[in-house]
Parts: sequence; structure tokens; C-alpha cells
Amino acid sequence: MRRPIIAGNLKMNKTVEEAVSMAVALKRKFYTFAEADIVICPPFTALSKVHDEIVDSSIMLGAQDVYWEEDGAFTGEISLNMLRDVGCRYIIVGHSERRNIFGETDEDVNRKVKAVLKHGITPIMCIGEKIEERDNGMTFEVLEKQLSRGLKNLFKDEVMRIIIAYEPIWAIGTGRTATPQQAQEAHKFIREFIERSYDKEAYLKIRIQYGGSVKPENIAQLMSQEDVDGALVGGASLDVNSFSEIVKKAV
Ligand code: PGA
Repeated sequence: MRRPIIAGNLKMNKTVEEAVSMAVALKRKFYTFAEADIVICPPFTALSKVHDEIVDSSIMLGAQDVYWEEDGAFTGEISLNMLRDVGCRYIIVGHSERRNIFGETDEDVNRKVKAVLKHGITPIMCIGEKIEERDNGMTFEVLEKQLSRGLKNLFKDEVMRIIIAYEPIWAIGTGRTATPQQAQEAHKFIREFIERSYDKEAYLKIRIQYGGSVKPENIAQLMSQEDVDGALVGGASLDVNSFSEIVKKAV
């Protein structure tokens, strides 16, 4: 079946030294780990050194964002070649913090997803509804819009390489997790959208992570849901022990 994938998004936390010492500790625990994909996404500044630390282990490196252009006058941005150069195998795209704080649109997300795929890296495309959208019964409508725009003009072989992260915004960093049933309902909707847009094979293959206040206490129940294939972990990934527990309890 689908291989579980647990990713830690360190967001704007940790110096190079702190991120490296976390990588060292994780490597000690998961040097060889066959049951799941483990991805760590430190800030840009720490990517290179963290890569050097985990390169020979089963832990993989991810970035938190990217710009879609190849190179040029884009002050402050980071390109795909730069991220590939430091060993990134995954890139988070369209995180709700990018969308809501930095004004990223679904069209931007689509450009990024395409560029990431073109460079042979796996995008983790984040989608999710706001609390008022959920309260107004608009969850599926919002997800459908983000999916259809974010995945616009992608071929089936491309979409099967993407990871989708369902992250209800009201559950991010709030301590308020979606119930396993709420997560399952949204994941099922996402998977069915993929079937409608592509086919059964894509429906069966695409991996969908849940994100939003995932912790050691709730991961097992979330993972027991049929359509939940992993987790994108923010706050609880900052501590090696809690992140390690999440990984162990996820499989
Ligand atoms: P959280 O963040 O685990 O701190 O809620 C998840 C995310 O933003 O990816």
C-alpha cells in the first residue's frame, strides 16, 4: 500500500547549530528505517549542513518554500537548482503561512508545483480551510478550488509524484487537532477529487498527509484512518523526542 511519510517543518526556528544537532540525534534513532519516509525541513540557512549530516541515513531533506524561476533578479528568493544542489528531495509548497502572511495565490502554488516536479523533486502541496469556511460548510468547496487551481495542467504521472498535505488552518499551531473523522473525511474528498480528475491508479497512489497540531498523543489515531498516509508536523517536530515518537507511533 502507500508508504507512510512523516515530515517535520521547523518553520522559522533553529540556528544552523541547533538544526544540525537535531539532525544528528534523529540520525542516531533512524539511521536505517524501512517503515516510513522521514523528511526534515529546516530553514534555508541550515539545509546544507543538515544534508551533510543525514546524507548516508534514511532521513531525507526538505525545504519550506521555493521560487519557480530558474535564476535572475529575484532578491531574497531561492531557486530549484539551489535547493537541489544542497540535497533537497522534498519542498513544501503553498503552506498556509505562505498563503496567508505572504499573499501566495493558488496560481503561485501551481507554478511552484510544476517547477519542483520539473526538477525531479517532490512537492508537498498544502491545502486547507479557515475556521469560518468550515463553520459555513464551505470546506469541500475551498479544498476543491485549491486542488483544481494548484494542480492545474498536471499530467497523471506528475500528480502521482506529489504529496498533498491537508492542513486545516484552524488546527495549525493552535493545539486544536482535527478529529480523526474530520481528517479522514477531508482526505477522502481529496482522494476522490484525484480520481475524478485522473483515474483510479492516481486515486490509489497519491499520498495525503495530515497537518495541524500533530503530536505523539494523536498520531496513531490519525494514521489509523484509511486515507491518512502521513503527517506534516510543525511545533512537535522542534523537539527530537516528540518528533521521534510521532514517527514511531505512525507506523
Ligand atoms: P503545527 O504546524 O504542527 O505546529 O500545527 C503544522 C504545519 O504548519 O505544517
